[in-house]
Amino acid sequence: MTPLFEQRLKTKLTRLQEENLFREMRLFKNCTLNLSGNDYFQLRLHPEVQKGASLAIEKYGTGSGASPLLSGFLPCHQDLLDKLLKWKHKPFGMLFNTGFLANQAIIKHLPGKKDLVLADRLIHHSIAQALSQGQARFKRYDHIDLDHLEELLIKHQGKYETVFVVTESVFSMDGDCPDLNHLMDIKRKNPFVLILDEAHGTGVYGKTGGGLAEEKNVLKEVDILVGTLGKSLASAGAYVLAESEAVIQTLTNIAGEYIYSTFLTPAQAGAASSAIDVVLELSSQRESLRNLSKNFRRRLEESGWESNELDSPIVPIVIGDENETLQLRDLLLENGILVGAVRPPTVPRGTSRLRVSLHSDVTESQLEPFFNVLEQWKNR
Ligand SMILES: Cc1ncc(COP(=O)(O)O)c(C=O)c1O
Repeated sequence: MTPLFEQRLKTKLTRLQEENLFREMRLFKNCTLNLSGNDYFQLRLHPEVQKGASLAIEKYGTGSGASPLLSGFLPCHQDLLDKLLKWKHKPFGMLFNTGFLANQAIIKHLPGKKDLVLADRLIHHSIAQALSQGQARFKRYDHIDLDHLEELLIKHQGKYETVFVVTESVFSMDGDCPDLNHLMDIKRKNPFVLILDEAHGTGVYGKTGGGLAEEKNVLKEVDILVGTLGKSLASAGAYVLAESEAVIQTLTNIAGEYIYSTFLTPAQAGAASSAIDVVLELSSQRESLRNLSKNFRRRLEESGWESNELDSPIVPIVIGDENETLQLRDLLLENGILVGAVRPPTVPRGTSRLRVSLHSDVTESQLEPFFNVLEQWKNR
């Protein structure tokens, strides 16, 4: 380590600290109420899901032992993939080690030099980062503003060989959704390749928990569907499913994110596979979670906080100032309630927030202390 290099790092870190943007590892200890995860049905603690992981370890060992194109792709991975294809009604697919890598691979390796990618302004960092590293030109449309998307499509489509549109189904920091039916109307008029990230829609939306595209009955029209195993499916890893075999074959042949990394562990595949079986049967929990989420927003509004009438379990409470956001997070934690504090660059400047993430085990009465702390904060 040279002193000059270390000094450079320290200067950058000091700046982050001064701007209240410094991030540090915090050991997650038990708290009374965890409103900070993405395990919307708490399936990581479900006996069937845990059994799925144990059985896969017993059968295939603790690790996959290699990258997928060597010998890492095992029958437990094939079983999981088959289940995902059937569930999401797609003919072709592949697994990735994380959703982050899956998005990077898609965006970096599918759109080419003659193409344009239109992405929602608040798209997840895994996609945003890849956009600036890929070969294609890209433009951002205003958040879930499909009229703006259509305007850009009409204006630019003729200049490019292929246009891609990329959006999340449920936005990870805002909990809101694009109108997928409207999006498909636009797609029919101005054809493009649609990439839909169902990271947060899976499990929560749709009759079988297949996601927002299932709920809106548009699964067939999604060309490339991405999802992670790390949220409702209580594991880790991801999948990319497609209508075209060429998409999957291309990623398999050129995506370094897939080719050069030891594949998912059998436990990850086994847990996710069992979690799908459980999720399929969770209709009543889905309904209660969405009701809880609606009531939570209503209660926020009644307490003088800005909210809306959506029903996704991700509820932002925008504070604006970074330092105040951290203070409120710490006050909640002192009261045993864990909530994520999200600051730039994860969210735009001036929109630092608490990101409340509800799950199906939360009861209305457990939320009382949360609202008491908010009240205390307002009256400070
Ligand atoms: C919308 C979205 N896409 C992709 C990812 C990345 O998924 P993973 O956690 O599997 O890397 C996340 C996770 O934060 C996400 O919220």
